[in-house]
Amino acid sequence: MQKLIEAVRGARHVVAMTGAGVSTLCGIPDFRGPQGLYKQPDAERIFDIDWFDRDPSIYYRGAFDIVYALADYTPGPVHVALKRLEDAGKLDGIITQNIDMLHQKAGSSHVYEVHGSGILHHCRRCGAEATFGEIVAMLKKGGRPEGSAGVFVPRCKCGGPYKPDITFFGEALPEEAFLKAQELSISADVMLVLGTSLTVFPAAGLPRLTLQRGGNVFVVNAQPTPIDDFCAGRYEDLSEFADAVLAAFPAPAGEKES
Ligand code: OAD
Repeated sequence: MQKLIEAVRGARHVVAMTGAGVSTLCGIPDFRGPQGLYKQPDAERIFDIDWFDRDPSIYYRGAFDIVYALADYTPGPVHVALKRLEDAGKLDGIITQNIDMLHQKAGSSHVYEVHGSGILHHCRRCGAEATFGEIVAMLKKGGRPEGSAGVFVPRCKCGGPYKPDITFFGEALPEEAFLKAQELSISADVMLVLGTSLTVFPAAGLPRLTLQRGGNVFVVNAQPTPIDDFCAGRYEDLSEFADAVLAAFPAPAGEKES
């Protein structure tokens, strides 16, 4: 990892782009890895807007453990390492496809969630808003199961189902976050691509913006990605990446980290 570390040290603008792989180290499954969520039959329907509109119970069953049990998870080594880079003044921001809010939990302050998050939900019928806490309370209270998945679906007073502000297949990306992600990718002289298969567009196109402007892209991912042939360095192990960053950028003496 020495080449990656030296590139970060020498860069003026470093940006990280993260995917589900950084959270497998916290116990949250990814989508397309060997134990990924999408290995289950029909799992791609979970985050699909057409399926949600037909039967929202598919989402609430499939996402229950990933989205609504998130309070049980704590940041892992990559989240901590990226916070350390921010503290060292070596990271302009984190573009994340993850909906688990673990970068924010680790203390990172410039996080751009290009696939949204579940922090707010909106009614599909009237647009009424509900917070994550309100939805969790409704789910805990439960009630009569509905739909083919046979689970409780939180509903608004008007009767419409609540949908998280997570970007589902078939929906546009959150405009502001994606615009900022594009700006960061264009201005980066080093981009760190961490734990993503780079298969879901338009987010998967962001490292190409860095490459097109002459920046260096480093990939750390167990499986191959479509940009491996074009990157400045390619590594497989995210724990090794975190260890290398934490060793190269030690915490200031006396500082306590979560
Ligand atoms: P994927 O599951 O497609 O890719 C995660 C990658 O991380 C895989 O290639 C794994 O091999 C790798 N990986 C997992 N653990 C690792 C480890 N400890 N060390 C190194 N590599 C590891 O997840 P994403 O690319 O994030 O969309 O998926 C993109 C989008 O597809 C997600 O945001 C999600 C999904 O549909 C929405 O939810 C809207």
